Amino acid sequence: MVTATASARKKTNGKRPRVKAQEPMLIGGKWVDSVSGRTFVTLNPCTGEPICQVAEGDKADVDLAVKAARKAFEEGPWSKMTAAERGRLMHKLADLIEENADDLAALESLDNGKPYKDARNIDVPLTVKCYRYYAGWTDKIHGKTIPIEGPFFCYTRHEPVGVVGQIIPWNFPLLMQAWKWGPALATGCTMVLKPAEQTPLTALRVAALAQEAGIPDGVINVVPGFGPTAGAAISGHMDVDKVAFTGEHTTGQIIMKAAAESNLKRVTLELGGKSPNVVFADADLDAAVEGAYFGLFFNQGQCCCAGSRLFVEDKIHDQFVDKMVKKAKARKVGDPFDPATEQGPQVSQEQFDRVMGYIKAGKTHGAKMLCGGNRVGTKGYFIEPTIFDNVTDQMKIAREEIFGPVMNILRFKDIDEVIQRGNKTFYGLAAAVWTRDIGKAHRLANSLRAGTVWINCYDVFDAAAPFGGFKMSGIGRELGEYALQNYTEVKTVTVNLGQ
Ligand code: NAI
Ligand code: MG
Repeated sequence: MVTATASARKKTNGKRPRVKAQEPMLIGGKWVDSVSGRTFVTLNPCTGEPICQVAEGDKADVDLAVKAARKAFEEGPWSKMTAAERGRLMHKLADLIEENADDLAALESLDNGKPYKDARNIDVPLTVKCYRYYAGWTDKIHGKTIPIEGPFFCYTRHEPVGVVGQIIPWNFPLLMQAWKWGPALATGCTMVLKPAEQTPLTALRVAALAQEAGIPDGVINVVPGFGPTAGAAISGHMDVDKVAFTGEHTTGQIIMKAAAESNLKRVTLELGGKSPNVVFADADLDAAVEGAYFGLFFNQGQCCCAGSRLFVEDKIHDQFVDKMVKKAKARKVGDPFDPATEQGPQVSQEQFDRVMGYIKAGKTHGAKMLCGGNRVGTKGYFIEPTIFDNVTDQMKIAREEIFGPVMNILRFKDIDEVIQRGNKTFYGLAAAVWTRDIGKAHRLANSLRAGTVWINCYDVFDAAAPFGGFKMSGIGRELGEYALQNYTEVKTVTVNLGQ
């Protein structure tokens, strides 16, 4: 923490991220301790040392938060506000996030371990864009008039689904919050968010900014805590109308079951992936190497859409691999606040162990490790960028989500083969193809069963473009116009116009 904080001070013009010794939670517009009085510690992944204590929410706190959200939904000024006014408040929130960009990026970096420059140049701007994008939607969400038979006037209203529970992960805390809050606020819902226990700090800071923006009390509630307690209380709550979750697919299954067994709340899930990234021999080789490198190693490899099955056509395999290994070996791992750093630590000891376990499995199962494989330093959760070659489809590292800086290279010979192998996974989040042949590119785009396909690019995100998974990578879409339907109920109104 010492080094990170010292350089944070430099990078943020002397403004060290303001962290209290203990962070409360936000319920009904009040900053409160947990009902139980318990707190949990959030750690600096660079050192494993505590940053601060955070109020630990549980069922009792979730109950209070849901009550506050229900009240705000039914009685509060929020439900009486015009759509345009909601949009104005959201724009104000976006402005405040932008004004506090340095601080928020520093806090995100401190809590999560991602390089400060990534947080500042990627996470925060995409977060601001997301709120602005949805601010623009507030007064453009409308129903239809329908020419039914008889002397009737029939129309639909797209009403807010109600109180929304949101459970988010630690890999992009600010951004996942924005993906959930953007459409929820735009549609007029009220919400209870549980940030990940590893990274609760920026969620609380943005909640404070939302208050400052004038978003009424109870619209936004933040209950930090653990999954099986606070998270389960949200997904199983009888008065939560919808739950939106991002995280591991097995957790998604637990949440869906809890939703089914309580009140059949609406469920949207954004889960993991094992995304095929296909490089043909006719691709712009340097661009493909760069894209595949970024598509895997970005964010310490902690991306749901990481291109973690990198299919390289036989003919260019050796050339491609040479270039890739050079890049991986040169990747600078270290202090997230050092401007030269490209890769920080994994988020937690648990994730560190998990990733090291996959590296061990890769070696045991006969993949050829070309570089990396070790811990960096003696404290914190740093891992060397690692590349496995000669990976085959049935290996554990080719089937399971690693969520770390571990690249798997698989060889292929022709297009039919790679389509078939690319789809041989229960995931379907993203895919990419690198080729100069437009026909081939579109054939792959059409054939790969994934929610997003990138052609000659990777990890291109925009608030306007929907994102989500086929198969076990999820249910529903986030971002774009498509996300709005997950936050609204369609009401049909029929008026008797008489004879
Ligand atoms: P996780 O799915 O357990 O945690 C994500 C969120 O769900 C956290 O807020 C957590 O507190 C909550 N949660 C956990 N158990 C819950 C329950 N029973 N009921 C309600 N909420 C619950 O993911 P975790 O354990 O942090 O990471 C494990 C693996 O999951 C990673 O190695 C990675 O493969 C994958 N993952 C995928 C993400 C994605 O973006 N698709 C994000 C984070 C993790
Ligand atoms: Mg878990």
